Amino acid sequence: MKNRERFIVSSIFAVLMFGWLGFLLHVSSDFAGSGLGAVFGISGAVLMLVPLVYVFMKRIPFFKEHFIKYVSLQTWLTIHIYTGIVGALLALIHTGHKYNSPLGIALTATMLLVVVTGYVLRYLTPFVNLDMKDKLLLLQTARGDLDSAWGVLEKSAAEKKGLPKAPLLTAGLDSLGLSFASDSPAGQVTTLAVGVADLEYSIRTHELLKRWFARALTAHIVLSVAMYALLAAHIAAGIYFGLRWLP
Ligand code: HEM
Repeated sequence: MKNRERFIVSSIFAVLMFGWLGFLLHVSSDFAGSGLGAVFGISGAVLMLVPLVYVFMKRIPFFKEHFIKYVSLQTWLTIHIYTGIVGALLALIHTGHKYNSPLGIALTATMLLVVVTGYVLRYLTPFVNLDMKDKLLLLQTARGDLDSAWGVLEKSAAEKKGLPKAPLLTAGLDSLGLSFASDSPAGQVTTLAVGVADLEYSIRTHELLKRWFARALTAHIVLSVAMYALLAAHIAAGIYFGLRWLP
């Protein structure tokens, strides 16, 4: 079920991520204001209101108490995701790639960013939150091995001469899997040192990503508040300036 959801949502996500660039090839100056364009716009806006139900269910005790027993929070989250992303797709079609007004551009950009942060939260954050325990354990073992290999090397001046003359180049080639290190103690120290450095780099990158992804929910919430404000202004402007397809 989760795989099917991931596949469907990722496919629509890909269409959205490339779709907005369609203005480079095609712009329709009157589609958004036409009858069909309005159907896409109104359906998109209505669908984009549905994700709010999940927020109410999660945050408002009254809704939690009375409605969760009929439909679980998990199901509401799935509905949140589908309606949010399909709503965004319909809204993007509604634009006809006409990005003329600052309000329209801001609304489209904010909507896409809401989808991007939602996608990150749902499908990418779980990978980053995977335990680092294995990597840390491996690093501890590799450091221990490096210490003992270095201990052997230190005892022999002749062996020390076997250390690479261009350590950076050797480390770079080793990282690419092109190892020229021999089986001698110097070669072992080189290989282990490269392994330890690679692991340390990977752990630091992992921690950095974890910190960045932890901010995804805050970004998703702030952007969705901005999106609803812009959507309200867009609808108000549409009504104020008239529905152009009406006689
Ligand atoms: C119109 C579009 C959307 C709006 C306005 C919206 C809004 C929100 C808000 C306000 C929250 C915070 C809930 C809370 O903690 O109170 C939230 C959570 C979340 N949203 Fe969205 N969202 C939209 C679309 C999406 C999409 C398309 C996805 C996925 C592809 C998504 C995935 C998520 C996830 C995973 C959470 C966190 C759930 C949790 O941990 O409680 N959202 N969304």
